[in-house]
Amino acid sequence: MINNQRFTPRITGLGAYLPEKILSNSDLEAMVETTDDWIVSRTGMKERRIAHAEEFTSDMGAKAALIALEKAGVLATDVDLIICATLTPDYTFPSTAALLQKELGAINAAAFDVQAACSGFIYGLSIAKAYVTSGIYKNILLVASEKLSSIVNYKDRNTCVLFGDGACAALIANEGPGLVVGETSLGADGEQASLLMLPAGGARHPASLETVEKEMHFIFMDGKETFKHAVRRMEAAAKEVLEKSGLKEAEISWLIPHQANIRIIDAMAKRFSVPDERVYKTVHKYGNTSASSIGIALFDLMNEGVVNKGEHLLLVAFGAGLTWGATILTATEE
Ligand code: UT7
Repeated sequence: MINNQRFTPRITGLGAYLPEKILSNSDLEAMVETTDDWIVSRTGMKERRIAHAEEFTSDMGAKAALIALEKAGVLATDVDLIICATLTPDYTFPSTAALLQKELGAINAAAFDVQAACSGFIYGLSIAKAYVTSGIYKNILLVASEKLSSIVNYKDRNTCVLFGDGACAALIANEGPGLVVGETSLGADGEQASLLMLPAGGARHPASLETVEKEMHFIFMDGKETFKHAVRRMEAAAKEVLEKSGLKEAEISWLIPHQANIRIIDAMAKRFSVPDERVYKTVHKYGNTSASSIGIALFDLMNEGVVNKGEHLLLVAFGAGLTWGATILTATEE
């Protein structure tokens, strides 16, 4: 641990993990009253990944984390803090971050979870940024992992077509080449909490025969209302972070929005001058993987090798809470 200095946080290693099993639109056609046409036209999704029964959020997170650590050239024992962003933790407690700490052998790391739903990766990045900038920690492992299939009702066509499983990880350090974590803008609106939630399983409605019979352990979403807030909030967060950074829209090379729906992505992107081919999309192949969606997209984009040094990336998230956030990453010259 190091103290009393200010450092520039940067992502020096990225990882992602997607389960092998594919759930296609035609699979869903056999499960609920839906069509490939409806799903593609209303969401842009063609398939999503589903973890196997014995594969949990911590397992997927650990796989993504190992890749990120290797890319960063950092040993698990050199990690100071593990932050796990998830709304599908292995347990309510202990944290999934603590399970990851054990799984990775990161014996010197503190560990906690962040619950900001689909905005979890951006919230987690902002926390990592604060710790690294202040000099409190040097190496932070941010993991976002979701086993959404564990809380999706596969009899409810309104939600079951939307979600997929997957994980991403980022090693945020105080030195080395990578993506510098710039300004961040976060927000929340608890007034709208009931739009998107898991109604039971918490202290308000502990698991009981009644909660099971009423199917309260599955995702509930008012899709139409959520959609409107998503576009508005993501646009505002993106504009706010640009202003804070002193960047113009034209200086953004890549836009990586949360992958909830192609229509949300397109509606948001239309409000910016980023050309369509610079708006990164994975929604067609992975669906909505909640907290992990932006990190998985970032991992895929960086692996394409198309991001040049000095380019700015704009990441924008939105999710239950409601929560939202945006951050700027800049590819370092080093
Ligand atoms: O990640 C966190 C944030 N999440 C989001 O931002 C998601 C936001 N919401 C959405 O993406 C969209 O609202 C949905 C994709 C969930 C729904 O699209 P929509 O265009 O808003 O459809 P809708 O809810 O207005 O439903 C239109 C119709 C309804 O039928 P009626 O009542 O008009 O007869 C639905 O029952 O489509 C029906 N429907 C379906 N039909 C075929 C809903 N789901 C399906 C389905 N297949 N899977």
